[in-house]
This record gives sequence, structure tokens and C-alpha cells, in this order.
Amino acid sequence: MTAQPRLIAFIGAGNMTQSIVAGMVQNGYPANYITVSNPSLGKLERLQQQFGVNINQDNIVAACNADVVVLAVKPQRMAAVCQQLQTNLPNLADKLIISIAAGIRLAKYQDYLGASRIIRVMPNTPSLVGQGMTGLVKLAATTAADGEFATSIFDRVGKTLWLDDEDQMDILSALAGSGPAYFFEFMAGLQKAAVSLGFNADQARILVNQTALGAAAMASVSELELADLRAQVTSKGGSTAKGIEVYQAADIDFISEQALRAAVLRNQEMAKLF
Ligand SMILES: NC(=O)c1ccc[n+]([C@@H]2O[C@H](COP(=O)([O-])OP(=O)(O)OC[C@H]3O[C@@H](n4cnc5c(N)ncnc54)[C@H](OP(=O)(O)O)[C@@H]3O)[C@@H](O)[C@H]2O)c1
Repeated sequence: MTAQPRLIAFIGAGNMTQSIVAGMVQNGYPANYITVSNPSLGKLERLQQQFGVNINQDNIVAACNADVVVLAVKPQRMAAVCQQLQTNLPNLADKLIISIAAGIRLAKYQDYLGASRIIRVMPNTPSLVGQGMTGLVKLAATTAADGEFATSIFDRVGKTLWLDDEDQMDILSALAGSGPAYFFEFMAGLQKAAVSLGFNADQARILVNQTALGAAAMASVSELELADLRAQVTSKGGSTAKGIEVYQAADIDFISEQALRAAVLRNQEMAKLF
């Protein structure tokens, strides 16, 4: 989806901003419509050199002319940043606010900023390679055009999913936000096993990475269910069946559910801190 570019200010130039800005510019968003602010200069200068965006060490200067302000600082810094914006930007209520911070609810931004067009998003780190999964939820007063604009930003770094119910953000975060770590953990186990069976580390790495990439790509494009895709590579009495039996004996479905429930619970606990 393409929406008309708007002047956009990113507050905070950390890992997530770097991924999103890279995806935006590489996919045709005009760099001169983007300003990034950050207290230290190094990350800003790298962003300017790499992508030609505007930079500023002052959040207020960066945000004052922007139509859209993306809040991209750590959650524990968010109250102070919002207070600074609220105190110094008389036209803040006219702007679309997009926050990428984990755990801070929409109502909190309404309290902090007095704005009504607010979108909360949860991107994930594969955004860095254009394969992100971003969840979005918005306050009712946010316009359809604002929603389309946010979708067009995060579609540039992967796929997007809108939620109607903000409570589902804790589940989405546990799945898509934390999920890359679950897959890395599983892949690391396979790599270690490959090394213990005789491959060197480089061989194990390419074998596991490419197999994971291929499986994910097939799952993404196929109309078949995962169980059917699995069955296609599992002949009765064959070697894959033997390997799958080991996973099933350990009840891998139960383990996945327990992992997801534990992460959701922690998200719910952390949301109470902000
Ligand atoms: N990384 C993820 O996987 C992920 C996924 C989903 C959502 N998020 C959310 O994205 C947000 C940013 O995460 P991140 O991983 O990009 O963090 P990060 O790399 O630590 O970046 C945060 C940036 O904010 C800057 N900053 C600190 N105080 C500031 C202020 N007062 N005004 C402007 N900038 C300020 C920091 O600058 P200095 O370094 O110079 O202090 C740093 O560059 C967090 O709220 C996180 O919850 C992250």
C-alpha cells in the first residue's frame, strides 16, 4: 500500500529507528521528509550519511514541523520525552503520534500528550532485513488515512497486522516481538547438534540457516497447512519420521504454548510498570 509521504520525525535513533528508516528510504520514501533526533550524534551522522535524512539533537526542533511523530525511545524514557514534547510543542494535538515502545498503552499517551490521533505499533528485529512482522492498534479518533499511512510505513519493512483489541498486543508481542528469539534458540540447538555429529561451525550454520529460511519461505507461499507440508517430507518409517517422533515425545506443542503464555504474562506485568 502506498500513502502520500508526510513529514515524519523519529524521536530516538536506536536499532528500531535505523531498521525502519532504512526500509523506508530503500523503498522509495523521500529522505528529505524524514528527520531523526537523538541526544548523541554518532547514530544520527551514520543515518544521515547512509540515507540522506535530516538529523537534529533537539527533539523539539525535529518534531515541530513534522506531521507525524514516531516515539522510538526505550519505555522507561517515554514519560520524560512525552512531557518535553507536550510542554514545548503547542501544535502537538494536530500531529499523528506513532509509538513503537513495548508495553505502553494508548491511553497513557493520551494522558501524556493530550493528542487523540495515536497509533501503537510493535515491530520486530527482522525489520532490519525487510522481513519484519508489525502489529498495530489505534485510538478511535485516529483517521482511516492515518491508519493507511502507518501501514504504508511498516509494509516497507515486512508485513503488518492491525488489531481491534489492544489487549491482544501482549500476545502479539510475545509471538512476533519475542518470536525471533525462539527460532534462534531452536536453530542454535540444531547447529550444536550438527557440530556434535561432525560438521564444522560454518557448515552447520549454512545448513541450519538455509533450511530454516527455505521452510519459512515455503510456509509463507504455500496454501497447505503446516501439518501437510510436514507430512510431505515425512515418509512412513523413514528418517524424518524418526526425528519427528523425538520432538513429539517431548510434546513440542505443549512447550510452545508454555513459552508463549510465560511471555504474555511478563508483557502484562511490564505493562503495569508504565
Ligand atoms: N529492538 C526490538 O526488538 C524492539 C521491538 C519492538 C519494539 N521496540 C521498542 O522500540 C523502542 C526503541 O528500541 P530500540 O531497540 O531501538 O532501542 P535503542 O537501540 O536503545 O534506541 C533508543 C534510542 O533512544 C535514544 N534516546 C534516549 N533518550 C532520548 C531522548 N530523551 N530523546 C531522544 N532520543 C533518546 C537513545 O540515544 P543514546 O543511545 O544516545 O542514549 C537511543 O539511540 C523501545 O521502546 C522498544 O520497546 C524494540
